[in-house]
Amino acid sequence: MKALIAGGAGFLGSFLAESLLNKGWEIYILDNLSSGLLENLEPIKENIQFIKGDVITYSTREKFDYVINFASNASRAEWEKYPVEVALSNSVGSKNLIEIALNSDATYIYASSSEVYGTATQIPTTEDYLGSVSTTGTRSPYDEGKRFGDAITKAYEREYGLKNIIIRFFNTYGPRMRGGDFYGRVIDRFVRQAQNNEPLTIYGDGSQTRSFTYVSDAVVAILMLIEKGKLGEIYNVGSDNEIEILKLADIVKEVLNSSSEIKFLPLPEHDPKRRAADITKIKKLGYKPKVSLQDGIKFMANSINRGKVK
Ligand SMILES: NC(=O)c1ccc[n+]([C@@H]2O[C@H](COP(=O)([O-])OP(=O)(O)OC[C@H]3O[C@@H](n4cnc5c(N)ncnc54)[C@H](O)[C@@H]3O)[C@@H](O)[C@H]2O)c1
Repeated sequence: MKALIAGGAGFLGSFLAESLLNKGWEIYILDNLSSGLLENLEPIKENIQFIKGDVITYSTREKFDYVINFASNASRAEWEKYPVEVALSNSVGSKNLIEIALNSDATYIYASSSEVYGTATQIPTTEDYLGSVSTTGTRSPYDEGKRFGDAITKAYEREYGLKNIIIRFFNTYGPRMRGGDFYGRVIDRFVRQAQNNEPLTIYGDGSQTRSFTYVSDAVVAILMLIEKGKLGEIYNVGSDNEIEILKLADIVKEVLNSSSEIKFLPLPEHDPKRRAADITKIKKLGYKPKVSLQDGIKFMANSINRGKVK
């Protein structure tokens, strides 16, 4: 099989590329390196075609069996700093990649997000939940970008027969994710802060919930969807283990034997109060997450800055 992975130099895309290469696939990676890193591709750089380019402007006559669209900055700090690029990557970029997929008669896989559900009132959230999202708030370039990405995928399916699967990722963590000291990507931030004996920064009072999936489980889920996901369907990939951020901080401190204090910072606007995935649909394909939160935190602490996934 031959695949174009847009955003393949990023966290999820680079691990997916490795797994597909191991299966004997031919891999082309298109990435503008806005949040991805060439060092993420170091282990596979001899075996892939890397194209430095932007999904907003990219065109090619190359044919593929799969076009996998992971190209979007994915953290709050990035989408607040580059709102136009984020909105266009998921809208114009999606349209470009869909056209490339159609020209090849390829299957198009789109990395959507739990953000399309916004401030969900149904927890855990199923794929048919319609969402409650601000069209103009500071999250909207990403949230609405992903909603448009979903919509244009289905529009091309209806009008042009696009073969597609939409994957809605919930919070995924692991080595290679770029956390930094800002809101979002919380496990990476907590692990780094705990390792440096710095205060763990919590935005708001920490009562907000999230559910976390270790990257190896997410990659298994993607491979399973490529292999046996039903075309035209939407699948949540995440965890139904809902946890308060304050409790997560305690677990990170306990697992890493850290005495870091907790520092509370103001909560950004439109922060979803609760988030957890209903994964009944992908479980029916045989999916079962394997890595516990405690183990995932340990793997991350041991491999941080080393770019290796356990
Ligand atoms: N990691 C998560 O928890 C999570 C959750 C929900 C959805 N997602 C989605 O999954 C995908 C991958 O996320 P990630 O966590 O690996 O993020 P990431 O930032 O590590 O990877 C995104 C990659 O896309 C590239 N990129 C961004 N805009 C581009 C453009 N216009 N043209 C070409 N390349 C571009 C970046 O350089 C980067 O390599 C994203 O679409 C993200 O929105 C991730």
